[in-house]
This record gives sequence, structure tokens and C-alpha cells, in this order.
Amino acid sequence: MRIGLLGYGVVGKGVYDEASKSHEVVKVLRRHKEGELFTDDINEVLKEKPDVIVECLTNTPVAYEYIKMALEAGIRVVSSNKAIVASHYDELLKLAKDNKTNISFEAAVAGGIPWLHALCDLKHNDKINSLKGIMNGTTNYILSKIFDEELSYDECLRKAIELGYAEADYSSDVDGIDVKYKTCLSGNVAFNASISLDDIPAYGIRYLDDYTLEYARAKDYVIKLLGYCDNANAFVLPFFIKKGSNIATISLNYNCTIVNTEYMNDITLIGQGAGRYPTASAIMLDVLRPLDNLATDNRLNIANDKEMVFYLSSGKGVDQKYIAKLIPSGAVLTKKLPVHKLKDIVKDGIFVGGFYD
Ligand code: HSE
Repeated sequence: MRIGLLGYGVVGKGVYDEASKSHEVVKVLRRHKEGELFTDDINEVLKEKPDVIVECLTNTPVAYEYIKMALEAGIRVVSSNKAIVASHYDELLKLAKDNKTNISFEAAVAGGIPWLHALCDLKHNDKINSLKGIMNGTTNYILSKIFDEELSYDECLRKAIELGYAEADYSSDVDGIDVKYKTCLSGNVAFNASISLDDIPAYGIRYLDDYTLEYARAKDYVIKLLGYCDNANAFVLPFFIKKGSNIATISLNYNCTIVNTEYMNDITLIGQGAGRYPTASAIMLDVLRPLDNLATDNRLNIANDKEMVFYLSSGKGVDQKYIAKLIPSGAVLTKKLPVHKLKDIVKDGIFVGGFYD
């Protein structure tokens, strides 16, 4: 396979190392060009007419243009860029189809786990009911270190950045935006849809405080940030999970994705969700076998009517009619409410969590 590589950062270098073992990397786009292999001009890469362009750039606006240029030239694209693919899903799939080529994005969700391939494969003979999981390595690393080793949030965040797990702007990790993109892409693939990112509320772990940690520990919970999607609900939310449950044991940069289907009930996949070689490995899977069975024609109504009890780290300003229980720290447990109600009752600076069953 002749590969044109865009980007030579954490993931790009990983792809180069993995790909060059049995394929030919014909050109690499990077800012600092040196020698024949490297260029800072996208046209130099396209001119090589590679079989596939692998996009691992961090500069989003430029990457979006380059992906389109490659597809318009009829060249297959593999991208790990969840923000771009989730934000322009319809457009990019159509552009690929119009140019008789394809775009594949396994590495955009759940790092090295062949998750989107599994969803595509399952759809051939089964029906997907719902999906959920730990889809962010950075926050899982932080949360598991906090619970297992009692380290501080700031210390764990710093370490996750050092290890190359976090996004260039780590807000995307800790505020649940990264998982929003991944939930959107997983839902699109599972339900042949093109879910709007605006329909997916995302609550992260930025406001996790000591009182909430105390509450969780006293009740034998850990906290995990989960993405969830079915054909009427899509959201990102931290969950209190009983220590004994399987998903509670997933630690460090590992992700855990669970798909529920008509014939199989739950299928669980566990693997590294971030880092150079796990991500490069998902990219190489796309290079060798692109995602198939993708469509966008199913118009879902994501009303987020799913009801559950929520923990809010402060009940200040929350209407009494929504509150079921006061906790001495000032936190509250709500009555069973639909997820969409959260936008009316969760004020900025408050940690919100659901309860996993
Ligand atoms: N920042 C992301 C994570 C990288 O921590 O999961 C992989 O998508």
C-alpha cells in the first residue's frame, strides 16, 4: 500500500513506524520539512497519487480542507480527527461517495479498539439497540488514579498530558467534548444516522470536588465518564458505578465500549483508548480494511427523554420540585428526570452525575 501521511506528531509518527514495516509511506506532510520524504505542501502529497491519505493533523481548519482535497482527487482518506468527521459527517461521506472513494475513521473513537468496525460488522445481520462506554483515555486515567491511588486531579491531568493522551486543549477531554464527538460518530455508524452535535449534551469531570469524591467512596462507587447513544437519546455524563461492576475496573488510558444488539445482548470491548501505537494500529486497520456499510439516511429524533436520578454537587438554585434528597455537603439527588431537563437545572461550576445500573 502506498500511503500519504499528513502529520508527524504523536499519532503520525506512530503510523509511520507501523506502516513502514510492510507498506510504503510515499510522502509526509509536516511543518518542518527535511529530506525527500517530508514536505509542507499538501499538493506534493497529492501529486504522489497515494492509495490512501492518512490524516493525523491537529490543526482542524487546515485538516478539513486537506481531507476534502484528497476526496475530491478520488483518494481514499483515513482520518483520526473526530472533531472534523463528526462536525461534517454528511458532507464528507457524500463527497467520498460522489468521488467513488471512501473515508474511514476507526481511530477517531476508542483509540486502538476496533469498535467502529465491530458496529459496521454487526449491522450486517443484527440490529443495534444501544451503545455506551468509556471513550476518553485522559479522563479515565485521571479518574482511575484518583480512586486507586488517591492522587490529586491536577497531578493526574498533568501526567495524562505528559503521556500524550490529552488533546492539545485538554478542556475537550475534561469537559466531555471529546466523548461527545465519539458518541456522535458511534451513533452515526450504529444507526446509519447523522446526529447533530447540538443534540448531545455533554457534562464532564472538571468540577469534581472533594465532597463528591467522599460521597462516592463512602458508597463504594467509582466515577467514570460515559458516552451513551440509542435511537432517541445521546449524551455524555459522569456515572457513579459500583466498585464490583466490570466497567468500574477499567483503569488508566483504557477504554471500554459496550454495544447492545437484538441477538447478542451486550458485547464489551476493552483496549487502550489513547496513545501513539494503539491509535496508529486503529488507523492501519482502516488503511487495510476501510469501514463499510455506512449510511446517513436514518433521521433520528434525539429527544433525550431517558429518565434517571442525578447527583448534583450543589442544590443551590435548583427548584425543590426536582429534588428527592439533600446531602449534608450541599449536594442533592434529584427525582427521576429526563436527561434533557439537565440543561435547565445544572448551573455552570456544578458536577453532575448519573447512577449506573
Ligand atoms: N484525548 C483523547 C483521549 C485521545 O484521551 O481519549 C484519543 O482520542
